[in-house]
Amino acid sequence: MASYEIRIFGDPGLRQRTADVTTFDGSLARLAEDMITTMYDAPGTGLAANQVGVRKRVFVYDVGEGPRTIVNPEIVESRGEWTFEEGCLSVPGLYWPIVRPKEVHLRGQDLDGEEIFIEGDELLGRVFQHEVDHLDGVLLLERLDEDQRKGALRTLRTRTLGLPDGPTGPEL
Ligand code: NI
Repeated sequence: MASYEIRIFGDPGLRQRTADVTTFDGSLARLAEDMITTMYDAPGTGLAANQVGVRKRVFVYDVGEGPRTIVNPEIVESRGEWTFEEGCLSVPGLYWPIVRPKEVHLRGQDLDGEEIFIEGDELLGRVFQHEVDHLDGVLLLERLDEDQRKGALRTLRTRTLGLPDGPTGPEL
């Protein structure tokens, strides 16, 4: 199993929508394995394929119940509101309280192409929204309010990426 290098804020692939997966084969399974290794090495709670330079609609996550892979995910329903201190492996060391729906229903496929449907609440719901955003080319910076966003861009311009500062939480 190999570990990928995680793409950081500024990489154009993070701003592009990924392509639907149409072939469910051994290379897709290997991609998922290597993404899981990369996520654990980071360490992170979730990882989207375009964070490792692969433009495919795939993400992996582990919220403490073992690793899972979701292919071609879409959020089909969302409910409520929840504020959570959210970070991202592609914007390392920075966290912001971000409001998003509390509960979402995710539809997608497993590595064999079988349809799956998962209800995610709180952290799991947050991971699903964050990773689907990645696959749509959206970074968490776009989920900040205007003041947070100005501060974030100032910080990103003036510091060397990769040096953690401030409070720490799960990176998705
Ligand atoms: Ni992220």
